[in-house]
Amino acid sequence: MALVALGVCGGIGAYKAVEVARGLQQRGHDVAAVLTANAARFVGPLTFEAITRRPVAGDQFAPGVNAQIEHIALASDLQLLLVVPATANILGKFANGIADDFLSALYLATTAPVLVAPAMNTNMLAHPAVAANLDRLAERGVRFVEPGEGYLACGWVGRGRLAEPADVVAAADRMLGAGRSLAGRRVLVTAGPTVEDLDPVRYLGNRSSGRMGYAIAAEALARGAQVDLVAGPTALEPPAGAEVFRVRGAEEMRTAVMARVAGDGDAVDLVVMVAAVADYTPAGGARDAKLLRDRDELVLTLRRTPDILAALGRWRAGRDRPVLVGFAAEVGDPVARAREKLRRKQVDLVVANDVSRPGAGFGGNTNVATLVTDTEAEEIPLGTKRELARVLLDRVEPRLAPLASGSEGAT
Ligand code: C5P
Repeated sequence: MALVALGVCGGIGAYKAVEVARGLQQRGHDVAAVLTANAARFVGPLTFEAITRRPVAGDQFAPGVNAQIEHIALASDLQLLLVVPATANILGKFANGIADDFLSALYLATTAPVLVAPAMNTNMLAHPAVAANLDRLAERGVRFVEPGEGYLACGWVGRGRLAEPADVVAAADRMLGAGRSLAGRRVLVTAGPTVEDLDPVRYLGNRSSGRMGYAIAAEALARGAQVDLVAGPTALEPPAGAEVFRVRGAEEMRTAVMARVAGDGDAVDLVVMVAAVADYTPAGGARDAKLLRDRDELVLTLRRTPDILAALGRWRAGRDRPVLVGFAAEVGDPVARAREKLRRKQVDLVVANDVSRPGAGFGGNTNVATLVTDTEAEEIPLGTKRELARVLLDRVEPRLAPLASGSEGAT
C-alpha cells in the first residue's frame, strides 16, 4: 500500500488515467489525482474524486488549498509521482523547473520517484525540444513508460500513443515494490493523546494531534508492513490499510498494546509508542455522576497510569523482538533525559523533541527531533512529520530481528 499522486495532463489519453487509478487501487495503493487545467477539460475532476475518494488537486490558487500548503503536504507524503498522460507541455515544465500549476509545483517539491507516461503526436515526440527534455529528465532519474505505436487521436499512425493502462500500473507497482523494505513485518504504532475521564462529561487530556503517529503508520505501510494502529481520540483520518484500534484512556491503551504484542498470533517486529499517554488518572476512576460546581476549590487526587513502554521493555527482556521505540517530549536539552528514559524503560531508541522549539512537537505538520540510542544522538533538522518517520524507520530497520521463516522476504 502506497500513496501515488496521479498527475493527469490535457491529452486525449486523460480518460485512460481513470483506468490507471483503478488498477493502482486494485493493487492496494491509495491514489491522489492531480489534474492540470486542460486535463479537467477532457475528464471531469468528479470522476477522479469518486474513484479515488480523495479531493482532486488542480488549482494551486483555489481558496482552501493553501491552508495546508497542499502541494507541499502531498509532496512529502507520496511514494510515487506518476503522470498519465504526460504532454509535451508538462515534460517541458518538469525539465525546466517551471512551477506554474499544482502538478508542476508538486514535481519540484517531492523527493519521491517520478514515473511518466508520455503521449503526443508523432512529430511532437520526435521534436528535438521534446527529445532534449526527455533526456534531461532521464538524467535526473525520472523513469518512463514508453509510448506505443498505433493509431493516434489526431488521425496519424505512428509513435506517441499512450502506453496501455495495465502496463503503466505494472511499471508503477514495480517501482513501488523496490522500496518495500518492511514486507512481512508487523508494526504496532500508538498515536494521539489518551484522555482520562473525570466524570461523564469532563476529562484530563493533552494537545497531541496524532499526526506524528499516523505519519509513522503511513510510512510503515508504504514500506509493506502490516500495521496495527492503536489510537487515542483524534479527529484524523487513519492511513488506509492500517488496522485501527480506538482507545480512550491509558489503561485501555495498555490492554490493547499488550494484547497485540504478548498475545497469540504473529510476533510484532516493531513497536513505536508515539502516543502522548496521560501520566495521571483520577484515583478511583471516573465519577459516575457529573461533578457539581458547588465549591470554590476542587481537589482531585490523581494516581500514576501504567507505563506501557516500560511494561513492553520488561516483557521483551530475553526476547529478540519487538524493537521498541519511544517518544519523549521535553523542554531544554532533551538528549540526557531521553537517554535516561531509554535505559530505565529498556527500549532501543527514543525520539526526543524539545517541544519548546518552533516547528516541533504537538499539533503541527513539522517536527525537529533527536534520535537517541544507547550510544548515539542524531539530530534531525526541521522537516515534515512524514520525513521524520522516514528517517526513523531507516534507522530502525537494521535493528529488526531476522524475518521469521515463512514470512514474505523484503525485496
Ligand atoms: O516518561 P515519558 O512519559 O516522558 O515517556 C514517553 C514515552 O513513553 C512515549 O513513547 C510514551 O508513548 C510512553 N509512555 C507510555 N506510558 C505512559 C507514559 C508514557 O508508554 N504511561
